[in-house]
Amino acid sequence: SEVDIDASAYDAGDHESYMRKEILEQPTTAQAVLRGRLDDRFGTAHLGGLDMDARDLRAVRRVKILGCGSAYYVGQMGAALIEELARIPADAEAASEFRYRDPVIEPDTLYVAVSQSGETIDTLLAVQEVRRKGGRCVGLVNVVGSAIARECDGGIYLHAGPEVAVASTKALTNMFLAFALLALQLGRVRDLSIADGKRLVAGLERLPAQIEEVLAIEDDLVEVAHSLAEAQSLFFIGRVRGFPVAREGAQKFKEISYRHAEAYQTSELKHGPLALIDPGVPTVALVPHDELTERNIGALHEIAARSGPLVVVTHEEVDLGGIDARRVVVPRNEPELDPILLTIPLQLLAYHAAQHLGHDIDKPRNLAKSVTVE
Ligand code: G6P
Repeated sequence: SEVDIDASAYDAGDHESYMRKEILEQPTTAQAVLRGRLDDRFGTAHLGGLDMDARDLRAVRRVKILGCGSAYYVGQMGAALIEELARIPADAEAASEFRYRDPVIEPDTLYVAVSQSGETIDTLLAVQEVRRKGGRCVGLVNVVGSAIARECDGGIYLHAGPEVAVASTKALTNMFLAFALLALQLGRVRDLSIADGKRLVAGLERLPAQIEEVLAIEDDLVEVAHSLAEAQSLFFIGRVRGFPVAREGAQKFKEISYRHAEAYQTSELKHGPLALIDPGVPTVALVPHDELTERNIGALHEIAARSGPLVVVTHEEVDLGGIDARRVVVPRNEPELDPILLTIPLQLLAYHAAQHLGHDIDKPRNLAKSVTVE
């Protein structure tokens, strides 16, 4: 089994860090998780490793996703995808909390463990809790033959290749794509139409090239990242599909820059965090072109009125009017798949902020790539 990553066979090459190398690899690694799994003809996905036939897939009444750190946040993105496409109630929970609340395990719930390393002890123990109580648990795991992969009933390998930097980038992107494949398959054995299925298959096929487009704006983000690095504290805000993106963005920023970064739902701003907005506290806002754009812009006005510096990750179509903000424009895909394109610039912002501050980007203080003891 390939549990250990042989880092000597995989060096950072010309890159100043593994994190940057892994960020830039994403157009290629994203193709790897999709390869052979998309079905254009029927607008669905083939996931043989799940070891579930159409009847098993139809019997799923609820989905519970378990992971830690970035895997937990991408789990929230995955839950939204599954609920939207398959119309099955889905949610994500921190695997580190799960077994301590003596969870009810239901036979018609599909449990999904998410882990890059496949060795995170909290996630492994959550899987064991599920299986001990007779639940079915599948894994979204990168490292082939790892403990979590072996413990699960089946799963989807992420094929992101070895990830060395503590801050997860390419594995996280592939977790999102694996969730999209799972949501598509769960949807297509239910009421997701063939037209919608084909729309999403086409969207997934476009994604690697669009990730490349986002990476091409790196130079524009460097100066923005440097200005964010000067702040002692910052907010990341988003709504509905954008909120887990904000959580992941804040996580990445704090992990490697050691700045206080906090995520909020944009809608909750007026219920508390607005009290902290001033010229020294920047906000990174996710404002995709969707049914919430106008409301999101309303919140930006509230921040601007208090002279809070703004970085807005958005789409070309979104007109910020007179708001004083740095715009970061990403390409649009299908609305369900947009969260991952909104996530990529946040990786680059965190990276360049940490680099500006002179931190050890691949090995941030106090953190381990995988936490294998309780
Ligand atoms: C550690 C890392 C995080 C990672 C988490 C889950 O806390 O510092 O970056 O997201 O573990 O790791 P996994 O290997 O289970 O995805």
